[in-house]
Amino acid sequence: MDSVRLSLFIVLVSSLLPQLAFCRTRHYTFNIVQQNVTRLCNTKSVISVNGKFPGPRLVAREGDQVLVRVVNHVKNNVSIHWHGIRQLRTGWADGPAYITQCPIQTGQTYTYNFTVTGQRGTLFYHAHISWLRATLHGPIIILPRRNESYPFKKPYKEVPIIFGEWWNVDPEAVINQALQTGNGPNVSDAYTINGFPGPLYNCSSKGNSSDTFKLKVKPGKTYMLRLINAAMNDELFFSIANHSLTIVEADAVYVKPFVTRVVLITPGQTTNVLLKTKSHYPNATFLMAARPYFTGQGTFDNSTVAGFLEYEHPSNHISNTKKKVLRPNLPPINATGFVFNFTKKFRSLNNPKYMANVPQTVDKQFYFTVGLGTSPCPQNATCQGPNGTKFAAAVNNVSFALPTTALLQAYFFKNSNGVYTTDFPTNPPNPFNYTGTPPNNTRVSNGTHLVVLPFNTSVELVLQDTSILGAESHPLHLHGYNFFVVGQGFGNYDPNKDPANFNLVDPVERNTIGVPAGGWVAIRFLADNPGVWFMHCHFEVHMSWGLRMAWIVLDGPLTSQKLPPPPSDLPKC
Ligand code: C2O
Repeated sequence: MDSVRLSLFIVLVSSLLPQLAFCRTRHYTFNIVQQNVTRLCNTKSVISVNGKFPGPRLVAREGDQVLVRVVNHVKNNVSIHWHGIRQLRTGWADGPAYITQCPIQTGQTYTYNFTVTGQRGTLFYHAHISWLRATLHGPIIILPRRNESYPFKKPYKEVPIIFGEWWNVDPEAVINQALQTGNGPNVSDAYTINGFPGPLYNCSSKGNSSDTFKLKVKPGKTYMLRLINAAMNDELFFSIANHSLTIVEADAVYVKPFVTRVVLITPGQTTNVLLKTKSHYPNATFLMAARPYFTGQGTFDNSTVAGFLEYEHPSNHISNTKKKVLRPNLPPINATGFVFNFTKKFRSLNNPKYMANVPQTVDKQFYFTVGLGTSPCPQNATCQGPNGTKFAAAVNNVSFALPTTALLQAYFFKNSNGVYTTDFPTNPPNPFNYTGTPPNNTRVSNGTHLVVLPFNTSVELVLQDTSILGAESHPLHLHGYNFFVVGQGFGNYDPNKDPANFNLVDPVERNTIGVPAGGWVAIRFLADNPGVWFMHCHFEVHMSWGLRMAWIVLDGPLTSQKLPPPPSDLPKC
């Protein structure tokens, strides 16, 4: 073949096989090891990936296969979740302990095997057992296919910005003690940006600049910040002094770009923003800062994490004049109005290339309350929760009990007896005025109940906050799917009035959405991925209290619609 024919041939082949063209397999080894880390003048041993906190970047292109060999060298049981990865027919690689797999025990290895399909942007991975994710997490960076570009101008540089939460003590001790006493867990000592608390904390200000994240930039360039909220229990406002941000992606789906001064990001959410630097070297340093949005009644970590946005001086010598440091304005702690309006600005691109395939009809409707409650104190014990009870949290008043074996295995091998039942309530079992005066009886029930969905069921789910023990925003996360956020509102959802205002054209598509404090959110998804899929509040404390449930999505008739058998190295309980 001459070269013209050869290149024609290549063009032909690659256009016929866009799915296969340029895809590759990426291999990673994650050694789970203890690592000493010093923050806030305090050194402690944390559980980490390869000794790094936060963990190393996992980079793949859309269409790539990813193999992550996880070797557990610590004494705790471990499992890792690839948060937001669709896991099409690879439910065995999803990761939540006792849902899709038994945990990886000390000295054991499990290889997670999945393919990135139809996603581009930022996601993250994190431990999915107890509170280990406090230190065991890292970015997942999904680049467009090699022959494709962003639907916006290519940024000069890309920088992951991971928000985290730091305890001076072992987070495992914090949650274990809380579950014992029934009281709320101790709040964190700091928030972090890429692992660093920054200059506004006591210890850091004593000239300890290694405790601070710095982003060095050049004037007149566009940087893409890949924001990840890996904090345990707090939604965060984020802003950079004297700069605005353009949001271009959320949960690895492109969105219609919009400009904002402040970003609200809930635990479990990720979002890419463009930061255009000033055209000329400014004689100032700019603080980037994050602090919580909080609506609950309990205590919370009311501190502020900060890092520096620093312009490189055009001439290489450092100027003698001390540069002034500018601080951003962040909304008040309980700025629910801001959050509601900000959330509504997210819209799918919905163009021919990136369509929003919103289910236009619904096969099954669900109405779930989400909120707090209580469970009784065991006999001969004293509890420190509300009125001597224990704090609990529930979906439709069921506080979900984790089994001692994995649900997906029990389902696949038809051993559900004594593990789970399939009678999760479709609607609240005892209706009340959810956002009005709470009922006197706040007691939740306890069990492992699931919902079964036939393959390709079109689902509409309304998540309703309750005011029991305080109305509070809950970042709900669904595994195995993205959903479309078709509506949201305050008060109680009205099935007669509210659907008329649903957006079925360009709603945002994501994997985690905040249920408004004292309000509701409506989502839709097509159940086209067979398996067992966890859904829960991404506040770790609420998850520990039982604000979690699971869906079983049955196989479809075709081979391509069935969940394959588990890999041979799937951990045993
Ligand atoms: Cu990022 Cu089940 O969670």
